[in-house]
Amino acid sequence: MAKITTLKLQEMKEKGERISMTTAYDYPTAVLVEKAGIEIILVGDSLMMTVLGDDSTVACTMDQMLHHIKPVVKGAPSPHIVGDMPFGSYNVSKEQAIINATRLLQEGRCDSIKLEGGMEVADTVKAIVDAGIPVMGHIGLTPQTVSKLGGFKIQGKGDAAKKVLDDALALQAAGAFAIVLECIPEDLGKLITEKLTIPTIGIGGGRYTDGQVLVFHDMVGLFEKFVPKFVKQYLNLSPEIVKALEKFKEEVKCGEFPEAQHTFGGVSEEELKRLY
Ligand code: KIV
Repeated sequence: MAKITTLKLQEMKEKGERISMTTAYDYPTAVLVEKAGIEIILVGDSLMMTVLGDDSTVACTMDQMLHHIKPVVKGAPSPHIVGDMPFGSYNVSKEQAIINATRLLQEGRCDSIKLEGGMEVADTVKAIVDAGIPVMGHIGLTPQTVSKLGGFKIQGKGDAAKKVLDDALALQAAGAFAIVLECIPEDLGKLITEKLTIPTIGIGGGRYTDGQVLVFHDMVGLFEKFVPKFVKQYLNLSPEIVKALEKFKEEVKCGEFPEAQHTFGGVSEEELKRLY
């Protein structure tokens, strides 16, 4: 697969070709996603919950993001790789946001960055784009501000729909190349997708967005704390892995593992006798 650029993603929207996107936080997952031919990898701050065990994404730092972006970039040369800007890394000033976004590209070597928020971050998005860095927006349910939103719940219902649409238009006007629409009513996802000229990527945004994103650990059944309604589990790996681990333990205890084929030779009988 040729490297996926923002231009290619725009072309896909214009041709009505759906865009697939998933998360990856390490080299082996990135290799799998590359093999599957998925167009976009998000190194998301969801890693705080899925692989680092926190209850939210809020505590994620720039150094943690860089630590995870680097191996993903090594494992997946073709997909477009988006690095997530962690909470607090773009909210202090435009200068701070540009410096941190630059770090993700320069040190992490990803292709673009993603940040959460609508109208309130539009000036920041413009400043980062003007600095030469492609920005993906993220509106609707924004996990970094989950305390302010009052929990992980659907956004943009009723009167609140207008705010989500205005957020989308503001991000597009600010130069975002795509926008994640998280956990909003399907009709609103469709309306925003039709109004925007840039691609929308839904996660709980209904069937009519230009693309879909799922968190890798959710879709393969590796995150057991909770499974949101919008997730489709294509695999249920956790019980399979537990079964394999239990079998390993059993075989170690009864001496069935390792077998001769898993061992090394290399000391002659004579040498052994001498050593004994
Ligand atoms: O961090 C993440 O994985 C995300 C997705 C939920 C879009 O932002």
